Amino acid sequence: MPLAQFLTALDTIEADATSALLSIQEAAQLEAARVRFLGAKNGVMKDVQKQLGAIPVADKPAAGKRLNEVKQSLQDAFDAARDAMASSVTKKSGPLPDPTLPGTPLRLGHLHPVTQTIEHLKEIMGRMGFTTAEGPEVEDPWHNFVALNIPEDHPARDPLDNFYLATASASGGVESAYLMRSQTSTVQIRVMETTKPPLRIISLGRVYRPDAPDATHFPMFHQMEGLYVDSHVTMANLKTVLRVFATNYLGGDVEIRFRPSFFPFTEPSVEVDFFWNGNWIEFGGAGMVDPAVLTAVGYDAEQVSGFAFGLGVERLCMRRHGITDIRDLFSGDVRFLQQF
Ligand code: FA5
Repeated sequence: MPLAQFLTALDTIEADATSALLSIQEAAQLEAARVRFLGAKNGVMKDVQKQLGAIPVADKPAAGKRLNEVKQSLQDAFDAARDAMASSVTKKSGPLPDPTLPGTPLRLGHLHPVTQTIEHLKEIMGRMGFTTAEGPEVEDPWHNFVALNIPEDHPARDPLDNFYLATASASGGVESAYLMRSQTSTVQIRVMETTKPPLRIISLGRVYRPDAPDATHFPMFHQMEGLYVDSHVTMANLKTVLRVFATNYLGGDVEIRFRPSFFPFTEPSVEVDFFWNGNWIEFGGAGMVDPAVLTAVGYDAEQVSGFAFGLGVERLCMRRHGITDIRDLFSGDVRFLQQF
């Protein structure tokens, strides 16, 4: 083969490869073109190299030199195209993040307003020396009624006023002895059964009553029970503790009043109201622990006396935060809850 023809073939290959590279968009096309031109087995350059043997001996050095030049130039062109493609992928994924910019704020959850209230009430009462006691939400009739001086035929035990739990009896029928506690006064009994006086406790937790929901009632709500038993505890002590508590939690200007009332487990008994938006709202019941209750738990009612109170936690929380409907607290609406 004459040298001139060999060199022309090389020029054509170089021109073809250059124009092929101009139209390539993707990495797969680039690789296919590289294999077509520079492939070790059937590449175009390999084919032309095979013809080197047919070149006259005197022209061989010139032909070999040009062959190597074209091979190198194609290799350089493919490498450059591959690098350009890789850097454009990096560019598309955007600039590197700036570590000096402030981070994206995370939306953190927080405690429910009722839980926050419970913690706050514990803290205020703790400063007056009251420690926290716990009791179960599923109760037996002894702790929810009998020991609290509420006899079998008392209307407070009516199935329509309580959430009794149906349990299978030995005879195969259904009994309703256990119930969801309707008041935290049950914890008074549990603590007195296991602790000798003097004692000063509070207990905060859920209670359950089949009350129709309205702005101030919900079938599940929380109470804070308080119990103080010692020698010479008086009604004046009770009023002082509730007043100090109310002014600490609701503010120095809160107006509270005590109304005579009746609870089977306290004598005398009062209901406690605060003034809000032109109305007196009841926030709890209280009184001196009835001697029959002290006796039922094995205390000597001649030696010790005590006061007890049970306050509605939601109503306190509502008064402090200006919430006018208890149902908002249990709606699960994040727009409402995130305000607290
Ligand atoms: C009692 O539950 C007595 N155990 C309180 C007590 C304790 C008296 C110790 C004497 C000694 P009462 O049923 O009134 O009392 O409830 C107390 C408070 O719970 C009410 O004043 C009110 O603030 C709140 N409360 C009652 N029912 C509901 C309800 N359905 N939803 C929200 N809060 C309620």
